[in-house]
Amino acid sequence: MARINDSYLKLKAGYLFPEIGRRVKEFTDANPATQVIRLGIGDVTLPLAPAILKAFHDGVDDMSRGATFHGYGPEQGYDWLSQIIIDKAYKPLGVDLKTSEVFISDGSKCDSANILDIFDLGNKVAICDPVYPVYNDTNVMVGRTGEADDQGYYAGIHYMPCTGANNFTPAIPDEKVDVIYLCYPNNPTGAVATRDDLKKWVDYARANDAVILFDAAYEAFITEADIPHSIYEIDGARECAIEFRSFSKTAGFTGVRCGLTVVPEELTGTTADGEKYSFNKLWNRRQTTKFNGVSYPVQKAAAAVYSEEGWAQVREVIDYYMENARIIREGLTAAGITCFGGVNAPYIWLETPEGMSSWDFFDKLLNECHVVGTPGSGFGPSGEGYFRLSAFGDRQNVVEAVKRIEQKWGK
Ligand code: MLT
Repeated sequence: MARINDSYLKLKAGYLFPEIGRRVKEFTDANPATQVIRLGIGDVTLPLAPAILKAFHDGVDDMSRGATFHGYGPEQGYDWLSQIIIDKAYKPLGVDLKTSEVFISDGSKCDSANILDIFDLGNKVAICDPVYPVYNDTNVMVGRTGEADDQGYYAGIHYMPCTGANNFTPAIPDEKVDVIYLCYPNNPTGAVATRDDLKKWVDYARANDAVILFDAAYEAFITEADIPHSIYEIDGARECAIEFRSFSKTAGFTGVRCGLTVVPEELTGTTADGEKYSFNKLWNRRQTTKFNGVSYPVQKAAAAVYSEEGWAQVREVIDYYMENARIIREGLTAAGITCFGGVNAPYIWLETPEGMSSWDFFDKLLNECHVVGTPGSGFGPSGEGYFRLSAFGDRQNVVEAVKRIEQKWGK
C-alpha cells in the first residue's frame, strides 16, 4: 500500500480560514435570519476596477480570434507584463530588475509555499510568531520539522515572537538560520518595518549566507512616507532576498489569481559540495517543470493595473479599504479596545477585551455581535490574546460591525 506523507499528520489543526468558515457555517445554519458581518479572511469585496475589467474582456476577446489567440504562454509570464511591473512598481523605488528576475504566478500564497522546492530540508528556517500560517504549515508539510509542542511550536523551527512587548518587531536570531520569512506590512499584526529594521535583516542574512523570503503582498497599503515598499530598496538585498508580490489585495484579484516572485540573479546558495548555485536558475527550472503560466486574459488584466487609468482606480479602492481600517481602529479605540495596525496595512490587530482568549473572543463576537474576525492564536502561540479584523469589508458593514462592538464593549 502506498505510504502517505506522514508530515501532514503533524499539523495541529485544519488550515485556519476553513476552520473559521466551518464555525461560521454552523452559526448561520442555526441562525439563518441573522446578518453576519465577515471581517475574518482578508478577502476583497469591491469589484474589479473598470480599466482592469476592460483589459480582461479584451484579453478574452483576443482568445476568440485565430490571429490573436494565445495558447501556452511563457511559464515565467509574458515579458510585457514583467517589464510593466519593473517600470511602474520597482523603478520608482530606485530598484532596477531584469525581466528574467520576475516570475509571474497565480498568487503569492502558492509561491511562498512552492519556494520550498528549491531549498534543502536541512536548512534552518526562522518564522515570526504570529505569522501567515502558510509559511509555518508548508515547512511542516515538506518534513522540515519535528512534532509540535503543547504550545504549538514545531521542533526545528526558529520562532520569532512578535507581541506588544517588542512592538511586534521580531528579534534578529541569536543562532545561525538559513532562511528567514518576513512579511511587511505585516499580516496579521499590521506592523511595518523601517529602512533601519530591514537593513539589520539584510546585514544578518549577508553575514550568515541566509536567504530572506520577503512577502510584500500588502505594500500598496502603506500610507506613511519613508516606509520601504520592497526589500530591494535596501543595499545588498539583491544578494540575499526573494520577494513575493500579489495583485490579490492591491487590485482585487483574490478570485482572479495573479502574483509575482522576484529572484535576483545575484542570489546564490550552496550545493552539497559547497559550490555556489543560482536560486534564479533553480526557480526557473521549478516553474518550467511544475507550472504552465498564468492565463493570457489574467495577465492582460494585471497589466492594466499599471495603466494611468487603472492605477488611479485601484488607488481609490485601496483608499476605501484604508478608510475602513481607520473607522475600525478609531471606533474600537474609542470603545476602550487597544488596537494596532490599520495605518499601513488593511488589518487591525487588537487586544482581546477582558483578557479573553482569542477563540473565546471569536465565539463571543460571532454569537453576540454577529461579526466574524480571526483569532490571533490561529496565527501562532504569540497571537494568543489578540484578534485580527480585516478592513476589506464594504463600508456599511464595517460601520455596523464597529457599532455592534462599541455597544457591547464601549464604556
Ligand atoms: C488572510 O486573511 O490572511 C489572507 O487573505 C490569506 C491569504 O492571502 O491567503
